[in-house]
Amino acid sequence: MPPTTATPPDPNVNTALPQMKPGHAAVVGLQWGDEGKGKVVDLFTRHFDVVARYNGGANAGHSVEVGDKRYALHLIPSGILHAEKLNVLGNGVVVDPEQVVKEITGLREQGLTIGDNFLISERAHVVLPYHKAQDQLQEAAYVVPNALDQSVEGIGTTGRGIGPCYADKALRSTAVRVADLLDFDALQHQLHRIVPIKNATLAALAHYAGEEFTPFEVDALLAWLTPLADQLTPHIADTGALLHERIDAGQRVLFEGANATLLDIDHGTYPYVTSSNCSSLGVHPGTGVAGHHVPNVIGIVKAYQTRVGGGPMPTELHDEVGDRIREVGREFGTTTGRPRRCGWLDLVALKYTARISGATGLAIMLLDVLAGLYELKVCTAYEIDGKTTERFPATPGALGKAKPKLETLPGFAEPVDTARRWDELPEHARGYLGFIEGFVGVPVVMASVGPRRDQTIVR
Ligand code: IMP
Repeated sequence: MPPTTATPPDPNVNTALPQMKPGHAAVVGLQWGDEGKGKVVDLFTRHFDVVARYNGGANAGHSVEVGDKRYALHLIPSGILHAEKLNVLGNGVVVDPEQVVKEITGLREQGLTIGDNFLISERAHVVLPYHKAQDQLQEAAYVVPNALDQSVEGIGTTGRGIGPCYADKALRSTAVRVADLLDFDALQHQLHRIVPIKNATLAALAHYAGEEFTPFEVDALLAWLTPLADQLTPHIADTGALLHERIDAGQRVLFEGANATLLDIDHGTYPYVTSSNCSSLGVHPGTGVAGHHVPNVIGIVKAYQTRVGGGPMPTELHDEVGDRIREVGREFGTTTGRPRRCGWLDLVALKYTARISGATGLAIMLLDVLAGLYELKVCTAYEIDGKTTERFPATPGALGKAKPKLETLPGFAEPVDTARRWDELPEHARGYLGFIEGFVGVPVVMASVGPRRDQTIVR
C-alpha cells in the first residue's frame, strides 16, 4: 500500500520554492525557537526527496495545519505529512523512544502511513526516564538558595531530558545509543552498569534540592523499553550512509533544524540555551553530510521576538503590546504550554544569527500578528554600560544590561492574512520587510500571513 499523504494538493497553495541554488537546503530558526519552521519545511518538502533532522529531541514542537487538521509533532520531521518522502532523525538527535512511538501511533490514527518512510540513525542517542528526572532535579538543585544568592534563575529547560542525554553522550560510559536497542543482552549489561551510577547521582541531587526521588530499577526500565524498542526496530538504520546514497543518486535533501540559533550550545545565549548545535552549523555533525553539500540556508524569523524559559531578552515588552502579540500570535509553548515572552524584533540578534547560520534567504513568519498596530519598533543597536554597539554580546551579564535602541516604523492597519502575492501586502508591511532585509543583508524570500499552508507569500 502506498503511503498516505495528509491531504490532496490544494490549488490555492503557492507551491513555488523561493529562488535558491540547485542542491540541498537547510531550514533553521534564527531566534529563540518557535519561529514556524514546521510550516516552511512542510511547504518545501514537495521539492525535496528526503527531510533530515540533525539536532535536539522532544524539546522541539512543530504544529502544522493542513485543511482542518492540526498535526503536533515533536520528534518526527514534518515531512512525514507528504507521501513518499523519506524522513530521517540524524545521529545528532536525542531520541525519546516513548515519544516517537506515541507520535507514530498518533499519525497512524490520523490516517498516515508510517513505515520505511521514517528512519532513525543507529548513532543517535536515547533519552531514558532517568534523563528527565535528572533534568528536573538539576534545575531544582541550581535554584537552591546559598550564602551569596538567595534567588537565582534556572535555565528553564523543557524537562525532556535533553541536557542530561547530551551530557551522557559526551561522557560516553553512561550513554545508550539507538543501535544498542537492537541487542537486548548487551543493553541489559549496559543498564546494569549505568543505572546504579545514575541512581547515585540523582539521589545526591535530590538530597541537595530537598526533592523526593525513587531510584530506577533495571528490570522495570527494560520491561518499559523492550516493547518500544520492538516498535522502533524496523525504523533503525545507518542514516548517514543512506543520505549519501540518496545524494549520489541526485536526490535532494532538506535539513530541518530543531530549536534555533540563539539556543545553539556554542553560539547562543549561553547558558540559557539547549544542549545541541541548533544553528545550521549542526547539520554536518548531526547527519554526517559535509558543509559543501548545503548551499542554501533558509533562516526562519518571526516578525517579532519571543522567548521561552530563562535568560535576558533585550526587546521584551511588559505592556499591552506584548500581551496583544501573545494573544494574537497564540504564543504559548507547543511542548510545555508555557506563555512565551514577547517583544519587538531584535535586529542586532538577527544579524548575528543570520551570519552564524549562513542564511541565504529569510522567511518572515507571523506577519499577520502585527497588523493593526499603529507603529512598529525594531532594535538596531544595544546600549551597554553607556556604549552603543551592534555586536551581540557573549555573556548573559552583558545582554542583561543591553538597552535596546529602537527604530520606529509605520505600522499597517489593514489585515494581511488574505494577501497571497508580495504586491498584495500593504505598503508599510512591505516597508517593514524591506527594512529587515536591508539591515541584515539577506533577502526576504518568503512571508507567512497565517497558519494555513495557503497563507504564504513566496517572493
Ligand atoms: P532544553 O532544551 O529542554 O534543555 O531547554 C533549554 C532552553 O531552551 C529552555 O529555555 C527552553 O525553553 C529552550 N528551548 C528548547 N527547545 C526549544 C524550542 O524548540 N523552542 C523554544 N525554546 C526551546
